[in-house]
Amino acid sequence: MRILITGGAGFIGSHLCERLLRDGHQVSIVDELNEFYSPALKLKNLECIRSTGNVAFYQSDICDEGAMTDVFKEARPDLVIHLAARAGVRPSLEQPLLYERVNVRGTLVLLEACRQFDVKQFIFASSSSVYGGANRVPFSEDDPVNRPISPYAATKIAGENICYTYGQLYGIRMVCLRFFTVYGPRQRPDLAIRKFTDLIEQGKPITVFGDGSSSRDYTFIDDIVDGIVSAIRYECDYDIFNLGNSSPVALLAMIRVIEEKLGKKANLQWLPEQAGDVPITYADISKANRLLGYIPRVAFADGVQRMIDWHHRKVATP
Ligand SMILES: NC(=O)c1ccc[n+]([C@@H]2O[C@H](COP(=O)([O-])OP(=O)(O)OC[C@H]3O[C@@H](n4cnc5c(N)ncnc54)[C@H](O)[C@@H]3O)[C@@H](O)[C@H]2O)c1
Repeated sequence: MRILITGGAGFIGSHLCERLLRDGHQVSIVDELNEFYSPALKLKNLECIRSTGNVAFYQSDICDEGAMTDVFKEARPDLVIHLAARAGVRPSLEQPLLYERVNVRGTLVLLEACRQFDVKQFIFASSSSVYGGANRVPFSEDDPVNRPISPYAATKIAGENICYTYGQLYGIRMVCLRFFTVYGPRQRPDLAIRKFTDLIEQGKPITVFGDGSSSRDYTFIDDIVDGIVSAIRYECDYDIFNLGNSSPVALLAMIRVIEEKLGKKANLQWLPEQAGDVPITYADISKANRLLGYIPRVAFADGVQRMIDWHHRKVATP
């Protein structure tokens, strides 16, 4: 199958590209390699992908209609897996217009290209943040998602909605996957587990917002990739799935696991809760299990160990 991955040089995208190459697909990547975090890390991700197989790489902005037309003309995808986005809740409060442009307009530009080039299938990377500050857990795909508490979450809801519209209008098979805090090797440096591991190793203080009880349904990258791959084979007009671990971990418990694995104590600096942060994410994964055969296999402590092993290999051979 010819598959175009947007954001393929990023954390989730690079793992997905490697898996799709190993599965024998023809992979193309669109990524602008922006500076949300170091482009050098994204170039390293691309190196890893290229050592797995041949890919066509287009360094372009998904919001650029002309560039996307050229990419689609050349790549002729059967399927688009759309991961490119401005990610992260907190920075979306500082740059809401940028988040809207990339995550909403960018998605629309790609859907228009799909329509124009008769692409039959589209998978959209959504997020657990669409559930907002809901206190009914676990989050089910049937829950209402009309109370986002960050611009990032609002753009992901808009993305899901516009996917639905294009699916209905043009018969594009649509799947929206709501990822729950993904972690593992190559994790984005702005995300907690990677950031905390670096800081604890270096003996530097780490900032804890709130009372440490906020919980996240951390999901290991390999499980997310398995979930995305299962969604490729899933037949539907439009559907939504949670991809989580269904086992939330409190912030302080997460820090304790890292401390234990590193054999070092963290130096905690306490700050008040941040606007936009939700108290808990917790996926009901029964639908993904039933229809996609999705089963997360990596327990949190094992995933953290695998991440720390990767971190140490990276430090030894930068
Ligand atoms: N990592 C998580 O925990 C998580 C959780 C929920 C949802 N998601 C979603 O999954 C997707 C991938 O996340 P990630 O953690 O791999 O992030 P990432 O930042 O590592 O990857 C995103 C990639 O998209 C590229 N990109 C951004 N804007 C672009 C643009 N305008 N044009 C072209 N490329 C652009 C970036 O350069 C980057 O390489 C995102 O849509 C994110 O919102 C991630």
